[in-house]
Amino acid sequence: MAIFAANFKCNLTRAQTKAYIEGLESYVSRTQSVGKREVFVFPNQAALLENTYGFVRVGAQNAHCVENGGFTGEIGAQQLREFGIDSILIGHSERRTIFGESQEYIAQKFAYFAKAGFRIIYCIGEDLAVRQNGSVEEFLRSEFRGIDTKYENLIVAYEPIWAIGTGVSASLEDIEHTHKFLRSFLDVPLLYGGSVNETNAGEILYLANVDGVLVGSASLELTRFCEIIESKATSDTAESK
Ligand code: PGA
Repeated sequence: MAIFAANFKCNLTRAQTKAYIEGLESYVSRTQSVGKREVFVFPNQAALLENTYGFVRVGAQNAHCVENGGFTGEIGAQQLREFGIDSILIGHSERRTIFGESQEYIAQKFAYFAKAGFRIIYCIGEDLAVRQNGSVEEFLRSEFRGIDTKYENLIVAYEPIWAIGTGVSASLEDIEHTHKFLRSFLDVPLLYGGSVNETNAGEILYLANVDGVLVGSASLELTRFCEIIESKATSDTAESK
C-alpha cells in the first residue's frame, strides 16, 4: 500500500479545491491502483470539504488541540468533526519555524488528536545547518520527544527543510539512509516529502522504507499529482521484474 498526500498549504480556493478533489476522486477510481493506494488531500482551512469521498481522504493541515473555545484564528475538533475529518498533519516545519510551534506544543497536539483517534501524519525534518554539521539522527530523534511512536494511526513524513519548496529534493542516497535510520525505531508507514514531483516520484517510491510521499507545490495541479500517483505503478512494475 502506497500513500500519497497532497498538502495545499495556503493555496487554492474552495471552488478550485472542490473541482480538484472531484477530478482526483474520478482519477483514482478509474485506475487499477484502487486498493493499493491511499490518497489524502489537505486543503487550506478555508477550503475544507466534507470527508465523504470514496477514494480520497480530506484532512486538516492544522488545528488547535481543543474541542472549541477562545482561540482566535484557530479551528478545533468540533469544527473538524462537522466535516467528518479524521486525519491531520502535525509538526510540519512551516508550523514549527514560521508559526513558532514548540516540540512541547506539538506533542500536546499529537496526544490530543491521537486520543480522538485521528490518522496523524507526523512531520519531521532537519534544516541545512543540521545536515551539514552531521547531527541529523540526533535532531530527528529530538523531534519525537513526547510523541507516542507506537500510536496505531501514525504515519511519519520525513521532510528535510532544505528540500521543501526549493525544487531540489534530497538525494536518493540521503532519503534511503535517513529512512533506514527511521525504520530502526519506527514500525509505521514512512513518507518522504520535499520537492517531490512527477519526475522524481517513481525513483523515490522505489527506495526501501519509503511507503509514500507528501507533496506540496507539485500537488497543486491535478494532472501532476495524478502523474505522481501513477509513477508508483511504474515502480511496482520495475519491482516485479
Ligand atoms: P514541497 O512541499 O513539495 O513544495 O517541497 C512539501 C511539504 O511541505 O509538505
